[in-house]
Amino acid sequence: MQPRHFISLLDLSSQELRDLIHRAIDLKNNRNPDFQPLKGKVLAMVFEKSSTRTRISFEAGMVQFGGSAIFLSPRDTQLGRGEPLEDSAKVISSMVDCIMLRTHAHDTVTTFAQHSRVPVINGLTDLLHPCQLLADMQTYFELRGDIQGKTVAWIGDGNNMCHSYINAARQFDFKLNIASPADYRPLQSIVDPAADRVAFFNSPIHAAHNADLIVTDVWASMGQESEQKKREFAFRDFQVNTEVMQAAHPDALFMHCLPAHRGEEVEAAVIDGPQSAVFPEAENRLHAQKALLEFLICR
Ligand code: CP
Ligand code: NVA
Repeated sequence: MQPRHFISLLDLSSQELRDLIHRAIDLKNNRNPDFQPLKGKVLAMVFEKSSTRTRISFEAGMVQFGGSAIFLSPRDTQLGRGEPLEDSAKVISSMVDCIMLRTHAHDTVTTFAQHSRVPVINGLTDLLHPCQLLADMQTYFELRGDIQGKTVAWIGDGNNMCHSYINAARQFDFKLNIASPADYRPLQSIVDPAADRVAFFNSPIHAAHNADLIVTDVWASMGQESEQKKREFAFRDFQVNTEVMQAAHPDALFMHCLPAHRGEEVEAAVIDGPQSAVFPEAENRLHAQKALLEFLICR
């Protein structure tokens, strides 16, 4: 049987994604230490970039389900010394039950998956961060109910998180208002298939008007550190602050995948304020990915 992969939200059907969110909520609310569907199973985790949430949530999730996880860094494996990806994928997938990768190039994950005999999970690439969207959707469903037909405002960089929100707008059927500086818009190839769900705005206030969820992310992602100053200037009018939150629906939530830079993309009063859902959102990485691991490995 061909393995299922999770490289993009588009790899699962809308119904599968919805079922996964409900399963994640169920696993969170009815935690049972005796339920160990991944007993004896092993997850390999390849990290080309830093991580707090992704590493801990996958590792803890595997242990809670009776399995284990191996942390692999290119610095300490042959991956960093030029062993072909194809060979690495064949070898690693012959020994473990699932592989998660966090890489710079998106192609690294897709190539790896082509040569893997076990499921491959995208733990973030320069293009997409689909695991984060599972947690974000779970959080919205828990706190406000179904997101179908709601309006989400993305304020800031048209980056991997923004791309994943565009895919989520298609899969979960919500409207996405995007406010980004002209030079930092999301890729047209990701926007085009979602054209009926996505609208662009020049100002965060206009994008946030009556929105049910406001989301942002850092101005300089991992790998863009040298652009920090240039980006601080380009994004100076794209902060999520109290004024932006006031333009949204009074029940609106604020989300951020974290790590956050208070005073840059978000005002401290917003991220630490009553509408912020960032900590349940972070915790839900654990529950959502447990549901994902169960879905991919226990087929
Ligand atoms: N949100 C997220 O992916 O966090 P980490 O970079 O800490 O894994
Ligand atoms: N856009 C950010 C997300 C971090 C979780 C980055 O890629 O660094």
